[in-house]
Amino acid sequence: MSKPNNQKIIDYTGPERIFSGVQPTGDLHLGNYLGALKKFADLQHDYECVFCIVDLHAITVWQDPKTLADQTRQIASAYLAAGVDPKKAIIYPQSTVLAHTELAWYFNCVARVGWLSRMTQFKEKSGKNAEAMSVGLYDYPVLQAADILAFKATHVPVGEDQKQHLELSRDIAQKFNHDFNAPGFFPLPEPLIKGPGARVMSLRDGTKKMSKSDPSDKSRINLTDDADTIAKKIRKAKSDAGEIPATLSEMEGRPELKNLVSIYSAFSGLSDQEVLTKYEGKGFGVFKPALADLSVETMHPITARMNNFLANPDEVDKILAKGAEDAANIAAPIVAEVRKIIGFWGA
Ligand code: TYM
Repeated sequence: MSKPNNQKIIDYTGPERIFSGVQPTGDLHLGNYLGALKKFADLQHDYECVFCIVDLHAITVWQDPKTLADQTRQIASAYLAAGVDPKKAIIYPQSTVLAHTELAWYFNCVARVGWLSRMTQFKEKSGKNAEAMSVGLYDYPVLQAADILAFKATHVPVGEDQKQHLELSRDIAQKFNHDFNAPGFFPLPEPLIKGPGARVMSLRDGTKKMSKSDPSDKSRINLTDDADTIAKKIRKAKSDAGEIPATLSEMEGRPELKNLVSIYSAFSGLSDQEVLTKYEGKGFGVFKPALADLSVETMHPITARMNNFLANPDEVDKILAKGAEDAANIAAPIVAEVRKIIGFWGA
């Protein structure tokens, strides 16, 4: 049966809430820190925040059962080390809250195959091998929409690579509200992407995103790198033979310069232009050591705090258990309402 298409979309009027997640798959890097974790720590002062460790997303590709729980503790430790305060924000593993999988199924029946087939991240991850990928990897963005909307989250801090997934979440929310004649039931979540760390690029190639899956460890700064390694990676980062220019427009066509300036800007709080003004006319021989010092200054304390949490897994587990309870208390009633809206027996 076709659905009425003249339903006015009435804006969501519920409270504002932040939701975001990180996969427990391998070491976190500077891109994850600047694109996500740093924003989490900043936002917790002004919003109700829910930060998830998305282990259900992680298993869309093979994860060793012997290490998955530790990988989850590692991301929790990174959240805490980056300054997320469990007294202010909820931190929990996705698999502990059943609302995620339940709502994902309902959304599977709302989302269209055509929408998913346009997702560029699946294409990138599967390459020429799409047929051999798990159905979960294809369906990944629907679960992501369920993550966000199980909490009726209104804002989602992420890096730029998640923009398309967020658009899909909005489409799903809108279609659900429309199809079930439930205007404003789900908010249309807004991505919070802006800022100098929204797209941190590889240190070996300024046109490629910094990524866990890059075979070269020199392409990224890991949250587990010690001070020496961080400094070395920055000093050896790919650059060009030019000088630091005076204006932003002169950075065009110099992707490595752009990336290093934007990392400097993220660490220092200066704008890109202010960084250029500070180093104008200097070569990379001056700029890179300065950036190396600044990177160590910022990242080293985070690594030290993270190692502290990793050495105290019981403390981390307590935080996760409490977070799981608090998260379920928010999401369960929302999904119960969804059951009613869909019209299930007994709902
Ligand atoms: P994941 O685990 O791949 O990445 C975690 C976060 O790090 C950001 N990020 C970057 N930011 C800037 N520069 C980079 N080079 C860079 N690389 C990664 C990502 O944008 C992300 O914010 N699908 C999500 C996890 C997820 C999620 C959610 C996020 C699952 N459910 C619900 C928000 C809301 C992901 O793959 O993250």
